[in-house]
Amino acid sequence: MKVFVLNGPNLGRLGSREPLIYGNETYADLVRLCEETGAELGVEVEVRQTDHEGEMLGWLHEAADAGSPVVLNAGAWTHYSIAVRDACSQLTEPLVEVHISNVHKREEFRHHSHISGIATGVIVGLGLTGYELALRFLAKKARP
Ligand code: DQA
Repeated sequence: MKVFVLNGPNLGRLGSREPLIYGNETYADLVRLCEETGAELGVEVEVRQTDHEGEMLGWLHEAADAGSPVVLNAGAWTHYSIAVRDACSQLTEPLVEVHISNVHKREEFRHHSHISGIATGVIVGLGLTGYELALRFLAKKARP
């Protein structure tokens, strides 16, 4: 089983981006955490990040065609992109929505997610640990 860990806009700037909200860990730390967790679980993990919506749509189509589970942090697209939601709707395996910050403690416009209504589950506010927990859930679901 291969799991796609897909990250949307501005997440490549983790570490320098608003550290009081997103912490000091970098995007490279996020990639390492996911790869190490995957290795521990015996699951192939592919971590990607893009600032371009069309590229994200292509990756979601790829995951749909491959029958792969997805961990998705769509960043700001979460709150307004129906195109990203429509691409997520085509997935056939579980989808875990992750947000590093607790979006419900933040501005009103971050409280609504277009993804949550079609996700298998949602993890918010647990920092990078949210990605690790999402991968553990997916591995357990595939091999109970
Ligand atoms: C985020 C929360 C979003 O509201 C924001 O636009 C992001 C990051 C998070 O991981 O906490 O880019 O998805």
